[in-house]
Parts: sequence; structure tokens; C-alpha cells
Amino acid sequence: QTEFAQIKGNDLYIDDVKATDLVKQYGSPLYVMSEGHIRKQFNTLKTKMIDKYENTLPLFASKSFSCKAIYKLAMEYGVGIDCVSAGEISVALKAGFDPKKIYFHGNNKLPSEIQYALENGVENFVIDNFYEIELVEEIASKLNVMVNGLVRITPGVYAGGHDYIRVGAKDTKFGFSSHDNTYLKAIKKVIDAPHINFDGIHCHVGSQIEEIQAYVLAMNKFVDIAYEIYDIFGIVINKLNAGGGFGIQYTASDHPLEFDDVVSTIMDIIYKGFDRRNMKRPMVLVEPGRYCVGNAGITLYTVGSYKYIRDIRDYISVDGGMTDNIRSSLYNAKYDAVIANKAGEKADHLVTVAGKNCESGDILIKDIMLQDPQPGDILAMFSTGAYHYSMSSNYNQLPKPAVVFTYQGHSKEVIRRQTFDDLVAYDVD
Ligand code: LLP
Repeated sequence: QTEFAQIKGNDLYIDDVKATDLVKQYGSPLYVMSEGHIRKQFNTLKTKMIDKYENTLPLFASKSFSCKAIYKLAMEYGVGIDCVSAGEISVALKAGFDPKKIYFHGNNKLPSEIQYALENGVENFVIDNFYEIELVEEIASKLNVMVNGLVRITPGVYAGGHDYIRVGAKDTKFGFSSHDNTYLKAIKKVIDAPHINFDGIHCHVGSQIEEIQAYVLAMNKFVDIAYEIYDIFGIVINKLNAGGGFGIQYTASDHPLEFDDVVSTIMDIIYKGFDRRNMKRPMVLVEPGRYCVGNAGITLYTVGSYKYIRDIRDYISVDGGMTDNIRSSLYNAKYDAVIANKAGEKADHLVTVAGKNCESGDILIKDIMLQDPQPGDILAMFSTGAYHYSMSSNYNQLPKPAVVFTYQGHSKEVIRRQTFDDLVAYDVD
């Protein structure tokens, strides 16, 4: 139970809305997101960073959940965003997002995407590689605009929940290496590019980070890099982006850090480091995605068929699967769940929750104690707000579920459920 998911009587309520009523109204499976929780998280970014330290900007990492509704909420709290494609930028702009608060990321920004971003007023780029420097310079010069370039450097810190989401180590496709002088060559090239203003440095050590040490190591390294830049080029960096990766609680075995603690640790190291050399303190950015929306999400499924293999395993199947949650099969991610309409009962049945996709790896939860799941029951799976809808697919031509926001006893659809017509919308007859 969290502050917004409560059991009353036998039923699960989300922001005071009965989970089974949501399924009746919007269908199943259903992504429910607590707007109350998202607001709480954005408010933490505001009060513990924007209001507390001058010249800071938390960015919401779009990739975790991108739609117009979330961008509108982020805007309300003065939070910026990071985008990794022209598509994400386009959705944000359609929501009315200020292009000046968009940071454009990605290890292979296409010429068409760079052009789209620049034509639409996006001026902050996280520069990833040498080819990009040439492309950005060429396109910015053609359009006669200036770009602020943050140079992405891999700090060589190895942290985070899974190999695929540990991206700060040496062997990664992202950013310029820091274990040789590659990053210095990149910075020189950016400084020399007439249409790119060298704005600072960026790092991202990984995702679902639960050790403060990862940020401490990366920030100490970045202070050293800032000194080096000052000594070699005579430039004090204007911005320092410490990346995202703030962990959340999926199950009882997760022990996430407090946002406040991570931010004050980061700020402390940077401010002390810059003060030591009398360098003007930089603008500090972070870019959490999962932290903002992860715990807000609850996916509601309807339980269908079952298969009991004597002495081996009891399977129950639900009406979604790897199409709406790829994380279980891709990362072996762990989740908690309850039977929403029996939430007050004792969870005394050991089952494995399977999806309905035609793939034997389509298992949502391996071994969980549930309240005697029967066909027609509603299974509520927690912490599905980040990288679920945004990583969903139409495998097996399953229509994508709707996304519903709940807030103070009310619900509203923010993304409608796909229909069979949507499944052929791009087919050319
Ligand atoms: N900044 C950069 C440069 C990133 O690469 C990422 C995530 C973030 C920020 C946001 O990370 P967060 O705070 O959400 O952990 N699909 C995976 C996660 C991939 C993350 C990729 N980059 C998952 O489902 O766990």
C-alpha cells in the first residue's frame, strides 16, 4: 500500500477510486496512473531542487512516459524535459511545452531530427559523438541559429539495476569516453564550432540506482573534469547535468535513495568543488524519469485461463503481457501485485502470472503469493508507470491499453485504448 493505493474492505482503491470500477468504465487491461503521486514527485523536484538551490533545473526524462498529459503536468511545476527523438519533441511541443526547456539527447540524432528540433526552437543539445558535432554545426549554420552543446561524458562508473540499463561504464554506446582524452578532443571541437556554444558537461551513470556512491564518484570525477577544462581551455563550464537513474521501489527488496539526499549530495560536491577554485558555480541539472512516474502506475488486468502443473507450477494468465510490460521478460524485473477485488483477503496461493502473448518468455511475475486468483478477477500490478506504456507494442496485434489518471476520487482518460481500426490505420490497401 502506498499513499494513493489503499485497501478498503476487500477492495483496492487508487486515489480513492475503486480499481474494479475503473475496469468497468475503461476496460481491461488498463494502465492507471495516480496523478496525485505524479504531482507529489514533481512537487519534490520543485521544492527540493528548483526552490532550494539557485540556478537548477530538473528535467523529466520523456522516454519513461511520453504523452501530452504528462508534459502539461511537468510544466505546472516548472520542470524541464529531456527528449531522445524528434517524435518525443513533437509530442511535447503539441502539449505546449516551452522548447527552451527541452534538452535533446540521443546517440544517433538524425539530420532530419536535428533540423526539426532547431526549426522548432530547441536549442539545448546533449552532444553525444563526433559525427553529431559536425551535423549540428552544419545544420545550425544553414539555419543561422546557435546551439547550446552539453558534452556527454561517460564517467566510467558502473551502477544500476541491470546490464542493459547500466550505461555509465566504459564500454557503452553513449557519450565520449573519459578514460582517455577523447572527451577533451570533443570539447575542443565543440568550442571551435562557430554555431555551437560549449555549455557544459553531462553524465548519466545508469538506472534504478540505489547506491549514493555512484553519484559521489561521478560528481567527483566531473569536478576534476571541470578543473581540467578550465586549465586547458580557460573556460568555466556553464552547466553540469548529473543525469537520471534515481531508483524507485518495485518490491520490498528495493531500497531507493531519497531524492533530497541525492540532490544535496550532488550539489554539495559540485559547489564545494567549484568554490575551491573560485570558479562560478554552474547551473545544475538532473534528469529523472522513473522517479517521477514509476510508482504512480498500476496496471489492471483481468485474470483468464489457468494451468496447474502438478508438483511444478500453477500458472494464471491475464489479458495483457509483454506488449504492455516488456520489463519482466527483457530485464527479469520484479513486481508486486494483488487481486484488486480480494485485496483484503490473505494471499495464500503461490502462482506465476503469465501474459497472453504467443511467446513462452511472456511471464509477468514468476512466483507470487496471491488471493486465490480466479477467472474474472482483477489483478493489480504495481509500479508500472515508467517504461511500460512508453515501451509497449502491438505484438500479436494486441491493441494498446488506455491510460487513465486518477486524482482525489476522480478519473480521466489521458490516452484512449487502441481499437481494431487503429491496428490497420497504417496499412496501405
Ligand atoms: N538520462 C539519460 C541520459 C538516460 O539515458 C536515462 C535513461 C535517463 C536520464 C532516465 O533514467 P531513469 O531516471 O528513468 O532511470 N527501459 C529501461 C530504462 C532505460 C533507461 C535509459 N536511459 C527500464 O525499463 O528500466
